[in-house]
Amino acid sequence: MTQTEKALSKPVQLDIDPFSIAALGDPYPLYRAMREAGPVHYSSRYDCYFVVRHDDVQRVLGEWRTFSSAAGVGLANFNKERPWRPPSIVLEADPPLHTRTRTVLARTMTPGVVRQLRETFEREAELLIDRMLDMGAFDGIADFAEIYPTKVFPDAVGLPAKGRENLLPYGSMVFNSFGPRNALTEAAFANADAVRGWIMANCARDALSKDGLGAMIYAAVDAGEVSEDEAGMLVRSFLSAGVDTTVNAFGNMLWCLATFPDQWRKLRENPGLARNAFEESLRFEGPAQCFFRTTMDDVEVGGVQIGANEKICCFMASANRDPRRWNNPDTFDIERKVVGHMGFGTGIHGCVGQPIARLEGEAVFAALARKAGTIELAGEPVRQYNNVLRAFASLPVRVTRK
Ligand code: HEM
Repeated sequence: MTQTEKALSKPVQLDIDPFSIAALGDPYPLYRAMREAGPVHYSSRYDCYFVVRHDDVQRVLGEWRTFSSAAGVGLANFNKERPWRPPSIVLEADPPLHTRTRTVLARTMTPGVVRQLRETFEREAELLIDRMLDMGAFDGIADFAEIYPTKVFPDAVGLPAKGRENLLPYGSMVFNSFGPRNALTEAAFANADAVRGWIMANCARDALSKDGLGAMIYAAVDAGEVSEDEAGMLVRSFLSAGVDTTVNAFGNMLWCLATFPDQWRKLRENPGLARNAFEESLRFEGPAQCFFRTTMDDVEVGGVQIGANEKICCFMASANRDPRRWNNPDTFDIERKVVGHMGFGTGIHGCVGQPIARLEGEAVFAALARKAGTIELAGEPVRQYNNVLRAFASLPVRVTRK
């Protein structure tokens, strides 16, 4: 493309709604159509630009000076409207604030910390898989995906056991609120005050154990790195970002294994592939479908001119299926070189909890691979609709022992 043609490019005007129930139910044909129609789309319905190809998504997420997170990583533009909660001081922040807060969170995710957690995570994974094998037939969401991440991770943070049933409703509020205000957001906020109240109360120093990741965050207060209030906000970030994502990653991975028997066979024969298989499931059926940025200035993306203070929705799940980047992108292949997938995002906001998420995924799916013989769907899966998360409400599955 010449410079003149580049300057003349216009975004494709989009008349489709990626946040409709139909699109959320099966987004991949829509992503394909968008990728083929052009690199950047403008939606007048949402007054927002959509970026769908791998290189462009990677660039927008990578250039934080131009594509800011501080005005929110959902559709709402905090420069124009009031956020529903005090914005996250890590996810919804730019440097220098982001650098300061992320440093504190990253310190709780070092290889040394992960090593210490491994034994407990692996023991709990064995127990979970034994229970599933005893049941034989079970719901892959209620009996499996929701069980483990709402146990091992809050235990590691040091959260009290009482009231943890608030974690998933809170995650649903957070993630639905990144999309447009629609029926899904309304339903997620039905019990908002009670859920929010529990979360805020349990992010306080006194509510947390003295030896968990939460206490490590509060140690940064004592070191003068963050204030007491900021530490509470950072614990909140872990609870917002670390539970629903992992629950749905588990559900999606289980669905992949039950529907791609050749890949399950490979994993069963070589449980050492569990880590890469989990990673591939984040590319192929990642829970995080999209996140937004806000332009700081006039900027060109994919040859299209975009003005300042505009919202851009980066469809990571579309980037993860872009044939410009991946061979056979619509195939689930647990031996694929999956580096470069956008399931954890990328750039300075790339998931800070990756080491824990990977540990959870590896522990559970390696135990499944070691112990289970067959795995298959035992009924029709039911979708859980969420504005930005790909999820199941129910996933009937049958397993046998090896
Ligand atoms: C498979 C599970 C997970 C997935 C798919 C996932 C996905 C993501 C993605 C895509 C982002 C980038 C958001 C953006 O660019 O705007 C992100 C950021 C984040 N994640 Fe995760 N996540 C997972 C698990 C976790 C866990 C277990 C934790 C906590 C230990 C966590 C904590 C965070 C935090 C605090 C951020 C914000 C980082 C920043 O802004 O610098 N996540 N995650």
